[in-house]
Amino acid sequence: MKWFSAGKINPEAKITKVKAGSKNICLVYNDDKYYALASRCPHAGADLSGGWCKEGKLVCPVHRFTYDLQTGRGGEGQFDFVPTYPVKIKNGEVFVGVSSFWERLKAIFKS
Ligand code: FES
Repeated sequence: MKWFSAGKINPEAKITKVKAGSKNICLVYNDDKYYALASRCPHAGADLSGGWCKEGKLVCPVHRFTYDLQTGRGGEGQFDFVPTYPVKIKNGEVFVGVSSFWERLKAIFKS
């Protein structure tokens, strides 16, 4: 897994769009914790970083579908999800972890 800097901790910035390698990430600061989700909404491609948080979910700004901040799972009846990424904090800086295709494939066969 490769870790990419998403900048210094900034609790004022609740939802920001950051780049982690080739991935566009929606970095969310909610209830004193960071979450990283893919920024493209699986419903119709809207940018989730324009959305907002409600009850532990990220709300898409276009059609208001919701995605769990921890799991990326879509709300009831949506049958979709957004990929999520691990986040770590080191020396006041936020890092987002992205696995390569081969690492993800290996993990599937391990389980
Ligand atoms: S584009 Fe996100 S809910 Fe439709």
